[in-house]
Amino acid sequence: MRLLIVGTLKGQLTTATKMAMDKGASVTHADRIDTAMAVLRSGKGADLLMVDVAIDIRDLVLRLEAERIHVPIVACGTQNDARAAVAAIHAGAKEYIPLPPDPEMIAAVLAAVANDAREMVYRDDAMAHVVKLAQQIAPSDASVLITGESGTGKEVLARYVHARSNRARGSFISVNCAAIPEALLESELFGHEKGAFTGAVARRIGKFEEANGGTLLLDEISEMDVRLQAKLLRALQERIIDRVGGTRPVPVDIRVIATSNRNLAEVVRDGTFREDLLFRLNVVNLKIPPLRERPADVLELAQHFARLYAGANGVALRPLSADAKRQLTLRRTGCGSTRPSRRRSRMRRSPPQRLRARSSGGPWRTSSAT
Ligand SMILES: Nc1ncnc2c1ncn2[C@@H]1O[C@H](COP(=O)(O)OP(=O)(O)OP(=O)(O)O)[C@@H](O)[C@H]1O
Ligand SMILES: [Mg+2]
Repeated sequence: MRLLIVGTLKGQLTTATKMAMDKGASVTHADRIDTAMAVLRSGKGADLLMVDVAIDIRDLVLRLEAERIHVPIVACGTQNDARAAVAAIHAGAKEYIPLPPDPEMIAAVLAAVANDAREMVYRDDAMAHVVKLAQQIAPSDASVLITGESGTGKEVLARYVHARSNRARGSFISVNCAAIPEALLESELFGHEKGAFTGAVARRIGKFEEANGGTLLLDEISEMDVRLQAKLLRALQERIIDRVGGTRPVPVDIRVIATSNRNLAEVVRDGTFREDLLFRLNVVNLKIPPLRERPADVLELAQHFARLYAGANGVALRPLSADAKRQLTLRRTGCGSTRPSRRRSRMRRSPPQRLRARSSGGPWRTSSAT
């Protein structure tokens, strides 16, 4: 977890930094928006910005948007800054942390944002087989293609491979190729030099360089346009990239994991995906079966999510009732996704201060919502 603290946090900077580092975060500090932007462009990256309410958070949000840098913001201020807190949330901050910081609060915020805390849960033999293969290939630098229906846990498995690789101490950087407009994806991946195009106000390091020494996850790779596929192929073959508007190639040391919920052989036949790129990516194929084909995972996952969200919501863990278990196993037979239903689990990933939910202490029940 990479944390970037912006501002002085009313003199609590050292304490907050120490608390975050104790929780395993690597912490960088920027005194102003300009310096924060420079850090983010430089390829150091951040998974979370902790920003002093004295900073103009709206301006920061706009500048991040203008440069398409996606990173959640939590605002920090003293208890009496109620108006500043409200303004910060309106401006786009996800949470507000009162100062002086409380270790539990910092831990909860980091846990809510940290993706690396995601555990891989499985019990079914069908999944155990996939996980075993993942363990075997994790230490190599081979490219991996993870396929499976939406919500089957492709990203969870990608992180699992990274965490067991020799690159585990490096960054895990993920790019969703379907979520970023075609025209912008190139600079997102490969970075750009100042003035490369209108709006390129400064050099920006792309995800390939940000992932240097670590793993780059190219999510929904089938959605990448053919021209960019050619550039990606070169990056994979030669381990060098060209920044947009750059004049010299940049070497990169990365392992690539790609995911797709489509059958890529079919996409190749349709002519929208390069066969040579598929060949390059598909050195190892981890196929995640849909949940309906791994029934033994259903209760294991339900119990895992019950534990996870009880913790996140600060309520006591309630056991699944016999009826809930029966319903879950009946209902899940036609479903492929592992993703917990938001309505059913009332899932929240925010830290406790917003979530003082009352617990009646009884067992979890399934609702009629599906
Ligand atoms: N085996 C698992 N153990 C624990 N959590 C899981 C597992 N599989 C999936 N999840 C949870 O389900 C959700 C979806 O998982 P993930 O994002 O990895 O799926 P995906 O296959 O990448 O989905 P999509 O195709 O929609 O991007 C996440 O909240 C994830 O934490
Ligand atoms: Mg995914």
